[in-house]
Amino acid sequence: MNEHEKGKALKEQQPSFEQRSGLRELFELFSLTGFVYGPLDERLNIKEALEKNLKKAVPHHVNWLFCFGGLSLFLFTVQAVTGIMLLMYYRPTIAEAYKSVVYVTNNVPFGWLVRGLHHWAANLMIVMVFLHMARVFFYGAYKPPRDFNWVTGVILLMLTLGFGFTGYLLPWNQISYWATTVGTEAPGAVPVVGGLLTTLIRGGAEVSQTTLTRFFAVHVVILPLVISFFLMGHFFMIRKQGISGPL
Ligand code: HEM
Repeated sequence: MNEHEKGKALKEQQPSFEQRSGLRELFELFSLTGFVYGPLDERLNIKEALEKNLKKAVPHHVNWLFCFGGLSLFLFTVQAVTGIMLLMYYRPTIAEAYKSVVYVTNNVPFGWLVRGLHHWAANLMIVMVFLHMARVFFYGAYKPPRDFNWVTGVILLMLTLGFGFTGYLLPWNQISYWATTVGTEAPGAVPVVGGLLTTLIRGGAEVSQTTLTRFFAVHVVILPLVISFFLMGHFFMIRKQGISGPL
């Protein structure tokens, strides 16, 4: 009998959650760890799965440079959490956007902090993604069989920059208005379809309410959905192939 079977047999001998009763079980049910390690574990073997993953040894050549990918993910979660908090007050109209942002900064308790975190984590995330890409490049980790992961990485980089570009317009102040005017003029230089591209991105000839509505939708719905899909692909491939070897 191997370790897994022994553990399973031992578990089967113990009374199930329904057979036991009392305060301890009740307490377990209402505490997260108790629930995860108690009734939920009896059904889904969570403890075993967690141990298998958490005790996975890190190869010796892995150093601090390998943390940039994880830090990019951490900063993305900061963006998701603080972004949802900002959404509670932000109003995506040209009449109210700026006012709502000023209100968050000056009147909402800790609003300045949440807005500041969203601003700094956005900039840091872009720095981290570039550092992560440089690490992958200099370690040659983009070579097959990880070439597909490099491709999903390039898409993730574009999406990260897309978050920055669309988010910049949302406060609807002078700098965001003019930055978007210049930024949306750039695709206009593309031969033949340039003019059409600019009009499509702006939703008209000029940066207007339609642009703000469009950028808002892209920033808070479309990009989060698309990036989650590619992040999952990125991580599945890393899990399946393991981390690349030493230099
Ligand atoms: C939102 C952006 C990104 C996140 C959250 C992210 C996350 C991660 C994480 C956590 C890892 C495993 C640990 C590590 O190597 O750091 C990883 C590996 C990898 N990433 Fe990214 N990544 C992102 C963008 C990119 C970009 C822009 C590229 C390249 C264009 C890229 C290419 C790769 C490759 C090839 C690996 C495998 C590395 C190896 O096995 O050594 N990723 N990524």
